[in-house]
Parts: sequence; structure tokens; C-alpha cells
Amino acid sequence: MSTATPQSNIESMLIENRVFPPTAATVKAARISGMGTYNAMCAAAEKDFEGFWAQLAHDNLSWKKPFTEVLDESNAPFYKWFADGELNASYNCLDRHLGTPTENKKAIIFEADDGQVTNVTYKQLHAKVSQFASALKAMGIKKGDRVIIYMPMTVEGVVAMQACARIGATHSVVFGGFSAKSLQERIQDAGAVAVITANYQLRGGKELPLKAVVDEGIALGGCESIRNVIVYQRTATACNMVAGRDSLMHEVTAKAAATCEPEFVGAEHPLFILYTSGSTGKPKGVQHSTGGYLLWAKLTMDWTFDLQKSDVFWCTADIGWVTGHTYVAYGPLAAGATQVIFEGVPTYPNAGRFWQMIEKHKVTIFYTAPTAIRSLIKAAEGDEKVHPARSDLSSLRILGSVGEPINPEAWMWYYKNVGGERCPIVDTFWQTETGGHMITPLPGATPLVPGSCTLPLPGIMAAIVDETGKDLPNGAGGMLVVKRPWPAMIRTIWNDPERFKKSYFPEEMGGNIYLAGDGAVRNADNGYFRITGRIDDVLNVSGHRMGTMEIESALVAHSALVAEAAVVGRPDDLTGEAIVAFVVLKRSRPTGDEAKAIAKELRDWVGKQIGPIAKPKDIRFGDNLPKTRSGKIMRRLLRGIAKGEAITQDTSTLENPAILDQLSENL
Ligand code: PRX
Repeated sequence: MSTATPQSNIESMLIENRVFPPTAATVKAARISGMGTYNAMCAAAEKDFEGFWAQLAHDNLSWKKPFTEVLDESNAPFYKWFADGELNASYNCLDRHLGTPTENKKAIIFEADDGQVTNVTYKQLHAKVSQFASALKAMGIKKGDRVIIYMPMTVEGVVAMQACARIGATHSVVFGGFSAKSLQERIQDAGAVAVITANYQLRGGKELPLKAVVDEGIALGGCESIRNVIVYQRTATACNMVAGRDSLMHEVTAKAAATCEPEFVGAEHPLFILYTSGSTGKPKGVQHSTGGYLLWAKLTMDWTFDLQKSDVFWCTADIGWVTGHTYVAYGPLAAGATQVIFEGVPTYPNAGRFWQMIEKHKVTIFYTAPTAIRSLIKAAEGDEKVHPARSDLSSLRILGSVGEPINPEAWMWYYKNVGGERCPIVDTFWQTETGGHMITPLPGATPLVPGSCTLPLPGIMAAIVDETGKDLPNGAGGMLVVKRPWPAMIRTIWNDPERFKKSYFPEEMGGNIYLAGDGAVRNADNGYFRITGRIDDVLNVSGHRMGTMEIESALVAHSALVAEAAVVGRPDDLTGEAIVAFVVLKRSRPTGDEAKAIAKELRDWVGKQIGPIAKPKDIRFGDNLPKTRSGKIMRRLLRGIAKGEAITQDTSTLENPAILDQLSENL
């Protein structure tokens, strides 16, 4: 079976009418059992919105000081939830399980790149986190300080996040694939006092430097706030250590007190900042709270994944992304689950690795991205040795998808070949800003439709509106919004409250409803949501968010070579979208091998500026870019050219229509 092009995906989604209701047995055993229960929960939230959330927050979290206020809207859109309550996130993920049967349960089954497995119980994880937290404290890191985490997928990565939470420090995890410059920008913007990193990371049998990138980032300047760099020694290879600033994680931990009282913080205390791309060149530091965020991380584990005591949960996302925050570092632990953490890549030593690991660890809930599924479909088609049929996947009971639209063809393959036509697929729509799932099926309730994220979770007031915020009827495409605040929502953009208001709560819509930045349409019959893609200049490449302006800024920063650049997305079979850059050079337009060489130079340059995930797949050179009379780049035209479409628009207003032919030329 082959994957269709995204163009035909959209078409096939429009005509999609296959429905997969949950089996009676699934409904019976589920936490949220049947649509009746789901509808009753939604009705309860409608009827008494604050009471609904207050009950959940009371029942699902351990509070040091109980809250008396639920939602404070006095300074909207800077909403506050449970603001006078006090708690600690690490306490809720670890201490809470001590003295219960969960303490000796495996919290983490860690599988290293080379296949070695290490199990860590809740009790052991508590000890590790406490001791490392003591070490951070001994260095003078305290509540409210910001700490950058630049770590591989390891137990230590989670320990670093939990240790920060334990002492009330706000962490900001930077994905290990981001460049020195990206790291420097984040250190500066967050005003971080420390970086926790590893000497190297191991991926696909290769040792890749991390500490050297941290050194390079700090050397770029403006990082004087950094007092400590703490290095987890992942491999035996030595790395440069700066006297007085750098220390080894195992050495500082060995010297530290074994226990560390959690620092109880107000519910609104920032647990973390996570940088993500927006429609301007500068990434935004999405700030999340402690109480509301953690509540949703725990609840969505229970609701969306129907978590049961015996489950083995595996979310394949890296801790550098929000999915790795909510569904690796916090949600599974807060819910007392056993989870698999995987250091490596899905294609090493072969593309059957995921299936082999599901069999080996008897995974029951598997959560991954459509891009991974699509690439594994391709691999399985080419080599039946890596086909999921080669592994015993009978332990699976629920599958999940996240990060980008899943095309119905990939959905069906996942459903049949991985889920054995018995496992519901939860297609979870959410964002860095939402903290956790927003629109998703519930395994024991929602009839599934391939390619649709179905219905909002109870308490999430999602709707589709026009530019003025007016509700649109089912069947009409518009902008996805959330009309009421929810506990896990973004609190602000770090250092930029104005941008927060402007980006998410536009005045034209009244200034208090959350604009997701995605287009969506609801099915005329059943009201199911289907996400149609971003409505801003944000691309989704392999489930990774990239701003077109961010890549444009990186290109023009090559000031010796580049005069002007415009970046657009093009549908891609494998990665969802691919980056296409149109570039005007300061010299004459190159052709042939010369053009290829310059394109490679620019691709590597962008890799250095942002990270390899931002490298344009395709670079086209022109003497000029198509602009309107007022000088605005005609992006729609460029998007058409990138797709290889014939130009049907009126181009008579263009200064130099001949450039369209130039820009259409593939290298
Ligand atoms: O466009 C939507 C897409 O990913 C964007 C959010 O990206 P990010 O903040 O990096 O978070 C990714 C992990 C939650 C959204 O604005 N997106 C995410 N999930 C889905 C999706 N598009 C369609 N279907 C989904 N299930």
C-alpha cells in the first residue's frame, strides 16, 4: 500500500466516510465509557465551568495548600487557575507514589540506542531526582531561576527536568538537534543561570556532540547569566570542561544530600518555558504554569489513553518538544504509569525497531507521529523483514498520533498493520501552547473516522469562527478557536506579554478567545473536527514547527551571498510539508553545478543557524522575487510554483513576470 500525496489526502479526507466505533468490550472497560458518559462530562463543564475544573483539580493533584480560587479572569487574557493553591510538580509525579504499591513499579523502561535496557522504579527515580535536585540547590540554583536543558533522550533528561521542578527552577528544554546559535538565543531570552547537558548523544550508532555545541553557543556572547554547566557523561569520550563553570552530573550528585524537600510553589509558578516557532523570525518562549499544566498532563493520560494500572505506555517524542514534556516527563509519572523511553532512532539498526521494541517491552499504548508512521510504511513496503507483521504486537490496545494531520491512508495502515484492527487510534490535536490534548477521540467512546481528530475533550470549548470571531456553521471552514480558558493553556510569552496578546487573543475577536492558528472544518453530520492546516506563516515539517520568517532571517543572515529570500511550504508525501526557499543572490543568478553548490552552502548555513530540521529541501534562484506594486512578496504565487502548479493567476501586475520561469526551474 502506498501513501497518497497530501493533495489527494485532503480530497480523500473530504470524502472520508469510514467509521470505526469502539467495541462493546472496549466501551465497558474504559474510564470514559461510551458517548453518553462523554456527553454528560461536556454538559457538566457547560453547566458549572469552574466547579467542573475545581473538582478535577482537587481529585487529581496533591496540594500542599488547597486552592480556594478557581479561575481568575480579572486580567484576561492573562488567566490564572487555582492561583492561591500551592503544590510541587515533582512531588505530584514521584513522592505521591511512595508508600503506595506504585513505589516499586517500573516508572521507566529505558532502551538505549544499542538496545541495552535499564529499569527504574518510582522509588529509584525519586531518589535520583532528589539527589540531583540537592546538587542543583548546592550550586545556588533556586526557585524562579531559569535552567536550560540540552539533553538526549535518557533517564537523566527526565531527572534533570524533574529536579528543576523539585526546587522550583523553571526549565527550558532545547531539542538536541538545535544549533549553537539557537541555544545562545534561548539562553539569552530566558536569562538562564545554568545549562544541563551531556557530553555526547547516541543516535543510530553515532556519537554526536552536545557539550561542544553548548560551549560554542555560550562563546557567541551575551550569555553572562550562565554560572554553571552540568554535564551528564553519556559516553566515555571526554569533552572540554571549563574550570569553575563546568561540572559532571555524577560527581555533583555523589556529593549532594540524598534527600531534597520539594519547594512548594503557587499554582501559577512557571514550571517551564518552551520555545516554539511563530510567524515572526524570533521563536516565542511559551510559558506554562505548574498547577493547571500538571492537572491536564495527568488527566489526559487517563482520558485520552484510558490509562490502566497494567499499561506500558510509550510516547516516542523527544523531551525537546512539548509532547515529550507532557507525555514523557510529566503526564505518565503524575499518572503512575510505566513508560518506555527510547534513546535512538526508529530506523536503527533497522526500520523494524519500533515493532521489535513493542514486542520486547509488551507495550500496550503506543503514541507516535504521522511522519514516523509514513516512513515506516515505506520501509516495510521495501523490506518485509522490517514489516510490523514480523513482530508480536498483540500487547497493544491503544494507538496514538500527534503533531500533524494523519492522512487516511497512513491511518488505515497503522490501524491494520500495527493495531491489528482492534486498537483504537487517538488522533490528538494540540499545540505547544495548549499544554495537552484538546481535540481527540476517546478510546472507549468516540467512533473513529480516519483523518479526523473528532471532538474536543470535556471542558475544552473549541469552535470554528470567521475573522470577527463569529461562529460558523458545521461544514464551513474557518479558524479554530477556544472560547473559554482551560487550566493547561499558555500563560504568556516569556518577556513578551504584548506578543502573547497579539498572537493568541486578537482584538478583532474581542480579545479573550484563544486563536489556535489552524484552520478547521466541522463535519456537517456529526460535528467532527478536521484540521486543515496552519493559517499563519508556520510550517509543519515532520511534525516540527518552523516559521517561514525564521528560515528567511537565517538565509539573509548570510550577508555575503544572499540579498533576499522567501520561504514557503510544499506538501510532501513523507514529511507532511517540505521547506522551499526562493533566493535572490547578491551576485548574478547561478545555474547548473554552480547553483547546486551554492544551494548546498545555503542549506548547511541554515542548518548551522537553526538546526538541520530547518534546512530547505529545495532552493530556487531568481533575479528577483514576485512582488505586488506595494512591494509585498506574492507568497501564494510562490506556493504554487513550489508545488509545480501551472500559474493561472493574473501576473500582469508583476514587475518582471519572466522571473516566474526562473523560479520554476528545479536545480
Ligand atoms: O498545525 C497543528 C499541528 O501542529 C501544530 C502544533 O505544533 P506544536 O506546537 O509543535 O505541537 C505539536 C505537538 C502537539 C498545530 O497548530 N497539529 C498538531 N497535532 C495535530 C496537528 N494537525 C492535525 N492533526 C493533529 N492531530
